[in-house]
Order: sequence, then C-alpha cells, then structure tokens
Amino acid sequence: MMTTTINEEKLHQLLGHVVVDFGATMFAPLALIGDKLGLYKALAATDPQTPAELAAHTGTTERYVHEWLNANAASGYVTYDPESGRYSLSPEQTLVFAAEGSPVFMIGAFESALAASRIEPTLTEAFLTGRGVGWHEHDHQLFHGIERFFRSGYTANLIQSWIPALEGVEAKLRAGAHVADIGCGHGASTILMAQAYPNSSFIGFDYHQESIAAARKRALDAGVADRVRFEVASAKDYPGSYDLVTVFDALHDLGDPIGAAAHARATLKPGGTWLIVEPYAEDRVEANLHPIGRAYYSGSTLMCTPNSLNQEVGLALGAQAGEARLRAVLREGGFSRVRRATQTPFNLVLEARP
Ligand SMILES: C[S@@+](CC[C@H](N)C(=O)[O-])C[C@H]1O[C@@H](n2cnc3c(N)ncnc32)[C@H](O)[C@@H]1O
Repeated sequence: MMTTTINEEKLHQLLGHVVVDFGATMFAPLALIGDKLGLYKALAATDPQTPAELAAHTGTTERYVHEWLNANAASGYVTYDPESGRYSLSPEQTLVFAAEGSPVFMIGAFESALAASRIEPTLTEAFLTGRGVGWHEHDHQLFHGIERFFRSGYTANLIQSWIPALEGVEAKLRAGAHVADIGCGHGASTILMAQAYPNSSFIGFDYHQESIAAARKRALDAGVADRVRFEVASAKDYPGSYDLVTVFDALHDLGDPIGAAAHARATLKPGGTWLIVEPYAEDRVEANLHPIGRAYYSGSTLMCTPNSLNQEVGLALGAQAGEARLRAVLREGGFSRVRRATQTPFNLVLEARP
C-alpha cells in the first residue's frame, strides 16, 4: 500500500489560506449591502457610531447592522473601538469603501466578482461541451460592477499618465482629434477622455446593446453628450477613421484579436495611434502566480476566455497573455511599431502604430 507523509506545517498553512478565502467569499455580499444601504457612506460622514446610531442614520435594523459591522471589523474594513463600543472608518477605509470616484474605490470589485460567480452552472456545463459563454450571458450586475471597478483605475491613470506616455497624442487631443474606444462597455474610459479633451470627439463601440444603452445615459449624466457618441458595433466592423483608437481591458476578450488589430489599423488616419490597455501580465505562467495574477486568471476563466471562445476564431488569449503574445497578435494585425508606453501593477499600456 502506498503511504503518504503529511507535512503538518504545510497543511496548516494551506488551511489558514483557505479560511481567509472562505471568509472573503462569505464577506463579498456584505460589501454590497453596505454600499446599497449607504452604511459605509454614513459611517464616513459622522463621528464614530454605535450600531444603534448607524441603524438610525440609515433607516436600517440595529441587529443586522451590528453583525455587519463586526464582519467588517474582522475584515479590517471598519475600525472598532472596544472602549466606546463605536465603529468608524479610517481615512484609508473611507477612500476604498465610501468614496465613489476615488482612484481606489473598490466596491465595484466585490460587485463584479459576485455577479460573475452567478455564471457557474452555465460555465460548468461549458467546461464539458467546450461551448463559449458570451459577455451578454452574464448577470446584468456584472456590467455595472466592471464599470465601477475599472473606472477607479482609469480615474487614477488614464489622463494623468497613460495618454501622456503616448507619442504626440496628448497634443492632438487638446487641439481636436477623432477617437474611437473599442469594447467600451459602459463608456467609463470614453467619458473620462471626453471630459479631459473638450475639443476632441469620441465614439465608443461595443457589441453589447445593453452596455451601449447604459453608456449613452452615462454621457448625458456627465454632460458630455455633445462630444461623445456610443454605437453598437464589433471590434472588427466599426465604421469611421480616427487619430486615436483605444481598447481598454477588452483585446483579450475578443474572439479574433488579430482581425480586430487589422481593422483598427485600417481605421487609423495617417500618423494615428492605437492604445491598448491590458491586464498586467508577465510572459511565463510561473511569474503570474501571485495575488494579482490569481484575480486575473480567475476572472479570465469566468468571463474573458469564455467570451472569446463564443466568437469567431475563438483565439482565447486569456487575461494573462503577457506582452510577447500581445505583441505577436498586434504584429500579425499589421502593426510594425509596438512599444510598452507605461505600466501599473494592474495594467500594461501598449502603443501600436502601423
Ligand atoms: C472587460 S469588459 C471592458 C469594458 C470597458 N472597456 C471597460 O474598461 O470598462 C470587455 C468588453 O468587451 C466587449 N466585447 C466583447 N467582445 C466584443 C467584440 N467582438 N466587439 C466589441 N466589443 C466586444 C464586451 O461587451 C465588454 O463590454
């Protein structure tokens, strides 16, 4: 009989890791409840509160709020003072949980993870059949969660560092340029650019009708509908010609990213630029085996890879393709000059020119 030696220390380490993950999975809906009922915002707005005070301020029930506060305190997301029995948010906790629009607002991360998890029964089936699962097949909350999550990163970086890292693009945008944003979703990136460069005109394209309808509403609410349009079109057939084409966190989602690259090239005016923002990844799997890579590989299994497999070609790059693979795709699509313009711990920012 084969005997196996168990290393107790390794086993305990592994179980400790699982307990953290189990707690995080159970906690995720609580982040949303706190967001929807204004619990985080109410905590941020006043002095430290007892559960009864927070419940009274938010029109909620004390017993539920008390348990919710303790789950947050155990997560390190709310601060508890045992002397007074009061709860509060530190300035850092406020930025992450209560300040919608802050560059580190993270409620959208929980919202998108929860929404994406609802695809599990469909995806389990797809593992067996090999069929793809389109973006449009997900719970509607995913589209909203991704918009909120990604907007934080774009708010922190897009205008301040990504556009200035491109050669000559910022000056063109200030003077007045035509821009297409491909796979724009709810248009978070498109609208940020339109707000920053009022002399330019922007058009966001996405194959997903429901996202385009939401993006149109966002443009009206943001007061930029005079310079932004949103239209339903796929990455391979959108019309027009542009000084700048952008694609944010969507190239690897496409069934045919090489075909999309060829189309982007054909829609660039002479001297035009294609900006490709992708999840940060190293080229080798072993270099991506860390917390950020884990989040990306998991999201990629739930959303990106199934969406690509659902479309023509079904190249399924995955969210951790790495720069070398991305460069090969861009080269095959007809871009001979590709440069890493900049990066963050979360994103690779590539500049491609014909
Ligand atoms: C991860 S989301 C990113 C959305 C948006 N760029 C953002 O950063 O918030 C990927 C987007 O790609 C879109 N998409 C998927 N396949 C597409 C295709 N073939 N053509 C155009 N858009 C596509 C999806 O509908 C979805 O909105």
